[in-house]
Amino acid sequence: TVFCAPGNPGTAQIATNLPLSINDHREVVSAMREHSIDLAVVGPETPLAVGLVDDIQAAGLRVFGPSKDAAQIEASKAFAKNMMSQAGIPTAPTHTFTDRSAALAYIKTHAEPLVVKASGLAAGKGAVVCDTTAEACTAAEEMFAGRFGDAGATVLVEDFLVGEELSVFVLTDGERTLTLPPSQDHKRLLENDQGPNTGGMGAYCPVSIATDALMERVSREVIEPTLREMANAGAPFRGVLYAGLMIAPDGAPSVVEFNCRFGDPEAQVLFPACDVNWAETFWDIADGSFNPSRQAPHTTRTAVTTILASEGYPSSPQKGAVITIPAEIPENTLLFHAGTTSSDGNIVASGGRVLAATGTGKTVAEVDSKIFRRDIGWREENRMQQI
Ligand code: AMP
Ligand code: GLY
Repeated sequence: TVFCAPGNPGTAQIATNLPLSINDHREVVSAMREHSIDLAVVGPETPLAVGLVDDIQAAGLRVFGPSKDAAQIEASKAFAKNMMSQAGIPTAPTHTFTDRSAALAYIKTHAEPLVVKASGLAAGKGAVVCDTTAEACTAAEEMFAGRFGDAGATVLVEDFLVGEELSVFVLTDGERTLTLPPSQDHKRLLENDQGPNTGGMGAYCPVSIATDALMERVSREVIEPTLREMANAGAPFRGVLYAGLMIAPDGAPSVVEFNCRFGDPEAQVLFPACDVNWAETFWDIADGSFNPSRQAPHTTRTAVTTILASEGYPSSPQKGAVITIPAEIPENTLLFHAGTTSSDGNIVASGGRVLAATGTGKTVAEVDSKIFRRDIGWREENRMQQI
């Protein structure tokens, strides 16, 4: 039996929604007791970063997800960069600033392009890729002026990495690991990778650049040293570690960012593409009885997802549009809800990214919407045409 808190009209079709505030940890613990819930899976970064896992565990209940200390790997980019530097993990050269004029002085003497990032959580909008010095100065000034609240009190200025991005997810109890088939996000709003960065407009899985040789290198150069360093720092990472990588033209991987959770929209292709027994795996990791060899993470199919976003996304998404969902969803298609809510018997858009349509097999599902990209997986299609 599955419960979702707070859930949405999509999860209501497959689970029981619990309309509680996940910010109130006592309420979460009470709901687990009331409904005899044996395992909590804490999904998003915000409750992880404030220690929901620690509080559920302290109540004597079973929970999957990293502790508050381990979630710093995502919640503080400054922490993550420092950890990577301690462990010798490849990543973009970065300078960290808490002082506005020092940041601006550095940007002005540094070659463009640069990437300016708020250190804290900013719902996927805290990294600005800047083609010019002027753009980088504006981005840093806005962050110090409070555009992302406290998350922008510390600002990182990074060298721009050239290459192709790859999202690698590892299920781990802190030592043992199960690496899942990598996927590729499409960050830019518009087709042909134009427009501003978003939380992600679509993804596909598997990705053919993720050869066994590359994945072996990612394990050795990124995943293993990260888990060792987190354990050494007294914050062993248990849960799903998301390494956002840039694969350079020469094949070398480096870390763009770490997240302490599944990806959105990567999860919408990862789950349909692989035959892992998810519930059993989360349970075993929570219990300390994880045995990765029991779960072969092979992909048996290709999955492609495209996000349907509200007009105005990502800067100022319009809310309230009534969504009509076709009564019949085609075979091999899944429709995931994100920013949706029920209102007067209608399903209404309540956020930026509203729905994700996943197709398995070879085709991208098309659903009528305001904004969506039709070119998800274009790199892979080009590669396949060259074979
Ligand atoms: P982040 O929040 O750090 O994951 O950054 C969001 C997105 O910005 C990444 O997925 C990349 O598309 C882009 N990005 C971030 N840092 C860099 C970098 N150093 N070089 C190139 N692109 C980057
Ligand atoms: N797809 C990017 C993220 O989940 O952060």
